[in-house]
This record gives sequence, C-alpha cells and structure tokens, in this order.
Amino acid sequence: MTARDLERYAELFARRTRVMRSSAMRDLMAVTARPEVISLAGGLPDTSTFPPASFAAQMTRIAQESSAEALQYGPTDGFDQTKDCIAEVMAAEGMSVDREDVVVTTGAQQAIDLICKTLVDPGDVVICEAPTYPGAVPVFCSYEAEVIQVEMDENGLDTERLVEVLVRLRAERRRPKFIYTVPSFHNPAGVTLSTERRRRLVELAREHELLVCEDNPYGLLRFDGQPSEPLYALDGGDYVLYLGTFSKILSPGIRVGWVVAPPPVLEKIALGKQAADLCTSTLTQYFVREYFSEGSWQRYVESLVEIYRRRRDVMLEALERHFPRQASWTRPEGGLFLWAALPDYIDTTDLLAKALRENVAFVPGRAAYLDDRGANAMRLNFSGSTREEIREGIRRIGAVIAEQVELYETITGEHTVLRASPASPSGVRGSDQERASTESGDAGEGGDVVPMRRRGEGR
Ligand SMILES: Cc1ncc(COP(=O)(O)O)c(C=O)c1O
Repeated sequence: MTARDLERYAELFARRTRVMRSSAMRDLMAVTARPEVISLAGGLPDTSTFPPASFAAQMTRIAQESSAEALQYGPTDGFDQTKDCIAEVMAAEGMSVDREDVVVTTGAQQAIDLICKTLVDPGDVVICEAPTYPGAVPVFCSYEAEVIQVEMDENGLDTERLVEVLVRLRAERRRPKFIYTVPSFHNPAGVTLSTERRRRLVELAREHELLVCEDNPYGLLRFDGQPSEPLYALDGGDYVLYLGTFSKILSPGIRVGWVVAPPPVLEKIALGKQAADLCTSTLTQYFVREYFSEGSWQRYVESLVEIYRRRRDVMLEALERHFPRQASWTRPEGGLFLWAALPDYIDTTDLLAKALRENVAFVPGRAAYLDDRGANAMRLNFSGSTREEIREGIRRIGAVIAEQVELYETITGEHTVLRASPASPSGVRGSDQERASTESGDAGEGGDVVPMRRRGEGR
C-alpha cells in the first residue's frame, strides 16, 4: 500500500479505527501456516482427532434428511436443539440453564464483541486480568474501553487487588461496565481461579452491583485436580454473564458459541447480533445437533483430555530441560496454554523474530496487555502440536533464549538475578511485583533470588 492509497481513504475512516488493533495471534497465523514452522502460538485444538467417518456420516444425514432447512437462515438467538446441546454441556459443569436464557453466537469471540457492543461507550471502564485473553484485546480497543488489568497469581485473579481498584473507581464515581475473566485454565496464563476467590468475586459482584463476564472455553478440559464451580453456578445468573463455545470440545471451524445473560441484557445482545450477522450458521448448528444425538460427546472430550495432558507433560519436561533457570512458567491443570516469564532484559517480540528464523513460533506476552507490560513473557500452546514437535519447538526457543542470555552477559559482564517465581503469571516486565535486578549477588528486597546460570552450567 502506498502513502497515496492511504491518503485517499484516510478521511473516510471512523474515529474508532485509530484505536483498533490487530490480534497478534491472527497476524501470526499467516506465518505459522508454513509447514516447516512448529507453531506453539495458536490456540488450536487438535481437530485431527475427530473421526472423519463420523463427520461424513453426520453431514450426509443432514443432507439426506434436512437439506432445505439446513441451508436456510435460522432464528437470531439460535435453534432450540442447539440450546439443548448447550444445556447439556453446561450441566456437565454443574450449571442449569433454560433455553430462553441463551443466545447462540458465532463463536465465543462474537459473544465478547456483542457484550462490548451492548455495554461499552467510549471511555467506559472494563476490568480484566493481567494478562488477558489476547483475542479480547482488539475487541476492547474497538469499543474504545478504558481497560484496567488486575494482576493474577497462581490462584488466578487477585481479588484483593480487585477490591483496591473497585474502591478507587467508586471514589472517582466511575462504575465499571463489567469484569471480563477466564477463571478456568486461563488463556494465556494457564492458571485457575481458586474456590475461595470464586466465592469472593461473586460476593464482590453483588456488593458493587457489577457484571462479571465469565468466559469458559476450557472448563471441561481438566487434566488433574478437582472440578471448579463456575461463577455462573455460584451466582445463579444475576450478575454473571456466561460465555461458552463448542470450539475446544468439538471444533472451532463450526463457529458455534453462546452467551447466557440476565433477560434485559440478553435482549440487547440479540439485537446486536441481528445487526451483526442475522444468525449463526444453520448448517453448523445442525451438525452440533447431529453430533450430540449420538451421545458420545463426553467420550470425545475425555479423549482430548488424555492427549492434551500428555502434551502438557511433555512441554513441562522440555521447559525444564531447555529454558534457563531464571525463567518461570505456570503448570496448568487443564486447557491449552502455559505462560512463561523470561529474564527482564529479554523482549519476546524481538525474540519471536529470531525464533521464526528457526521455524518456531509463540505468542509474545505484549499481546495479552493493553499497556506496555508483558514484554518478557510468552504464551505457549501445547494442544496443537505433537509431542515430538513440542520437544523440538521448546528446544529451538530455548536455544534462541540462550543466545540472548549469552549476549547480555557478554555486553554487561553481569549475572542477572531474578526472584524465583515458579508458578505465577505475574513475573512480567512492568509488574511492580517481580522486577529483576541486574547486579550479581544483589538479592534485592525479599531476597528470594536465584543467580543466572552461565551457559554450560548444569541445572
Ligand atoms: C478465552 C477465550 N475466549 C474466547 C475464545 C474464542 O473462541 P471461539 O472459537 O468460540 O470464538 C477463545 C479462543 O481461543 C478463548 O481462548
């Protein structure tokens, strides 16, 4: 595109396009589609595990028995049969929902967009986690929200920090429009909100009359530990809007998700959806219906859990082996991602360029922040690659990091020291909790530090 091309259209763009930004993951998808690249970047479930014969049988049945209906428009809020499947999925996590409380959406992504469309005027406050789902960042930007990101630790969103934010906002007479959270197997952080904090969050929602948007694509993908109670179940649906999707338990290609909300909010969401796309694909809703009628969806989810658990374990082993000792990462009990924090002087956006030269990709941490945090962190996906690819991918990233560490040490002659933070997503640059100091032997405040390992030293 030339400058002249840009000039020709520049005056036509709406003001909001100035703050629109692209999702880092979407940009990366073009590069990582090259077959030689090992991508630990995407959030891709392994769709190769879905039996092609079963897919063919379901689609054939649709064509033979309901061709005209399946090729037709459908209701804006979705088919009742789709909603029955949704109720089944939600019941598997202990939630009870009625058809009239649900709008079927074109993926949970559309639900995030519709919630913002319904609730957010430019300058309105939205609260979310730090880091947050990278795909939500461009949505918040498009609606010109003022986003406040609250730190997490290994137990998810820090509710006491949230209280501080709420108190401050109240003093400023600003009411946040909603809190966006991914409580289970967080994307990108890989952590899960503790039971105690779930209760606290629901309590805060009532106390402050706050809407909480619970985005839960991964709840059923638990590898270890006890199931967590969804916020929606704890709250009963007064203040919690619930987002679900078939993307991670069946297929993202079908683009079927949903939103559950109190009736007045849901009504506006349905109006927004009507304007956006009239209805979610009839054909893929029919596919969901056919698939669920076979009664084996939970068995398929169990098979995914087995596969992803093994891949997570392989990734954790590979990280131990190939990442420097100063790096820390989360140990997810489910889902698709873990989050790694590197020494403070490493910028993962620059590192990605180097990694791509080695044909490996990850999501740089900045993609999960609306401010300048996250520069030394990365999101790593373990669901979309084979175990061999994961081992090799982590080896390659580890080698690129090692080069950076060596370069830094050569230039500065220093050992870097970092506080050890084995399982917290907050070890990112810009975080006031875990800044690195760069003086050998300087334990910094708190003293819980580890000296940087020199190249060649064992772990
Ligand atoms: C937290 C979260 N929300 C929403 C989505 C979007 O899901 P869908 O494919 O249903 O649009 C994703 C996809 O990765 C996600 O991780």
